[in-house]
Amino acid sequence: MEKKVLYINACARSESRTDRIARALLERLGGLQEEVKLAEMDLQPLSEEADYTDAMFDLARQFQQADEIVIAAPYWDLSFPAILKLYLENIYVTGLVSEYTETGRSHGLCLAGKLWYVTTAGGSYLSDFSCQYLHTLAAEYFGIPETELICAEMLDVEGFDADNLVAQQIGQIQKRKLL
Ligand SMILES: Cc1cc2nc3c(=O)[nH]c(=O)nc-3n(C[C@H](O)[C@H](O)[C@H](O)COP(=O)(O)O)c2cc1C
Repeated sequence: MEKKVLYINACARSESRTDRIARALLERLGGLQEEVKLAEMDLQPLSEEADYTDAMFDLARQFQQADEIVIAAPYWDLSFPAILKLYLENIYVTGLVSEYTETGRSHGLCLAGKLWYVTTAGGSYLSDFSCQYLHTLAAEYFGIPETELICAEMLDVEGFDADNLVAQQIGQIQKRKLL
């Protein structure tokens, strides 16, 4: 059976360089691909009045059942766009993506073996509050053991050729044996 690859697209711009790199990766990964384009969804913060409809559970189930997950998000304010946090809040359904053990620890229920985190940064990239956070969340709460970062940085710094830096990253992806 073909592997299911879930693409979580948290890019905001139509000319997004992060999205461009992620699509090169998706091409290498193959499989049956589904894209969740966060900008086009009506994600709401959870609240007492939140509408806990089937749609939210569908998103959680889709995340839980993916064999491989690609998240693309630009580097914003040392982290990633808030819409990605909204998505995570919405898919975090206890009993679907995670459950508690008797000792209170979380035990992940997701099937994916790997999460790819694709990002681009205007300056130099510090992974602490984006990729590192997602790696810990994936491993400890979702049960996804491996996270790999793909990053192109310095894209908005004078003297650096952004197109070339993005092309280099895409070239490296195209050379990898991923299928
Ligand atoms: C709201 C916002 C916040 C940003 N914050 C940072 C930042 O903290 N550090 C940094 O190096 N670049 C920052 N940037 C620059 C982006 O990371 C950079 O332009 C990135 O390549 C954008 O990705 P995109 O081409 O996929 O949209 C920020 C850009 C925006 C619009």
